[in-house]
Order: sequence, then C-alpha cells, then structure tokens
Amino acid sequence: MNFILSASILSANFANLQSEINACEKAGVDWIHIDVMDGHFVPNLTMGPFIVEACRKITQLPLDCHLMIEQPENLVDAFIKAGATNITIHPENNPNIRETLSYIKGAGCRAGIAINPSTPAEVIEPLIDYADMILVMTVNPGYSGQKFIPEVVGKITKVFALAQKCQTPPIIEVDGGINSETISLVKTAGANAFVSASAIFHYPAGIDLGVKKLRASLL
Ligand code: DX5
Ligand code: ZN
Repeated sequence: MNFILSASILSANFANLQSEINACEKAGVDWIHIDVMDGHFVPNLTMGPFIVEACRKITQLPLDCHLMIEQPENLVDAFIKAGATNITIHPENNPNIRETLSYIKGAGCRAGIAINPSTPAEVIEPLIDYADMILVMTVNPGYSGQKFIPEVVGKITKVFALAQKCQTPPIIEVDGGINSETISLVKTAGANAFVSASAIFHYPAGIDLGVKKLRASLL
C-alpha cells in the first residue's frame, strides 16, 4: 500500500517558503498541502490562489489545496488556474457541493470532500461518488498545532467502509494533530493520506528527520 504524506505549509516559515518546500521535497513528502481559510468558515485568515501560484513555481509536487471557505464555488476557478492538483471542499453549510465537485473533476483536478470532527460519516454517503478523496478532519479546522481528537478514529473506520463500496475507492486523507504516534492510529482505521504541519515544519531536529519519523511510523 502506498501511503501519501502531505506537508501542510501552514506551519512553514514563510520568509523562506521556497527552501522549506524544497526541504520537504528532498525529504520525500508526496504532496504540499495548502490551507485556505477565509475568516468566515473558520476564524483564521490564511492563503489564497496567489500562494498556490507561487508554490506551483517552486515545486513539481502535487498541490493539495484544502479550502476552508464559504461559497468555494466562487473561487475554484482561481485555484484551478493557479495550478492546484487537489481541491478539497467542505459540505458543511454548502448546498452546491455536488456541482462544485463535478466542476473540479471536469477541470482535471482531484476533487475532495472534507468533514469536520462534528460532521457524521453519513453526510458523505450521498456525495461519495462525486469525490476522489475524503478528508477527515482530526481537529477543528482553523489552526495548526492543535491536539488530535481521538474520538474521530471511529469515523475514519466508517468512511473506510463506505469507500470500499465504491468502484474506485476514494483516497482517505486525515488532517490535524498527525504526528508519529497518531499516524499509526489513523492508518489502522483506514486512512492512506496524511497531512501534517507541526510534525514536519516544527520538528525539533528539522524537516528531513520529521518526515523520516512520520514515514517510519507508517511501516
Ligand atoms: C487545520 C488545517 C491543517 C493544519 C494541520 O485547519 O487544515 O492542515 O495545518 O496542522 P497540524 O499538523 O499542526 O495539526
Ligand atoms: Zn488542511
């Protein structure tokens, strides 16, 4: 089984974004995760298509864009143009999610659905055929460096079971509080793509060893 490590640049040093991304690439991460927050869907305000465009020039790695924004349908085009590989949107408070997922796929990107810790697995059941990836949040979205919520592990098992019923099972990604300990729990529950910010960019011994430690926990 191939496991995907997605480095969330939310914890990167933005004064040295290029060298931080290059270090991740050298260390062997698979994707670069870009957390887009609008100050409405979540309280924090972070990056937009402009940063995706900058990352696209820095690395050949797939850009895993996680949109924590209201009305994502208004901005998906900008992310597609900026060079996003994956565009993941939330179903909470989003009546247009099917159309938006289809639009993302139609543009040749991978379409993802992200669910908050309080959103039940059942919400994705009628949407799963529109998605290439399900992102299960293991913290409440908004900030990096939060503590993993262990109660979400049971939901990953449910999402895994739903995914197995699909002709092409979607990737199951997890995001929030993923470190060398929690990664084994979510892997056992069925996740196969793992987002991490702090455990990579704030790893005391540096990015390279942080990535190696996560990778070693997946063996
Ligand atoms: C949280 C973001 C995450 C965050 C993860 O809202 O979606 O991607 O950067 O950070 P860590 O790995 O530090 O929990
Ligand atoms: Zn994220």
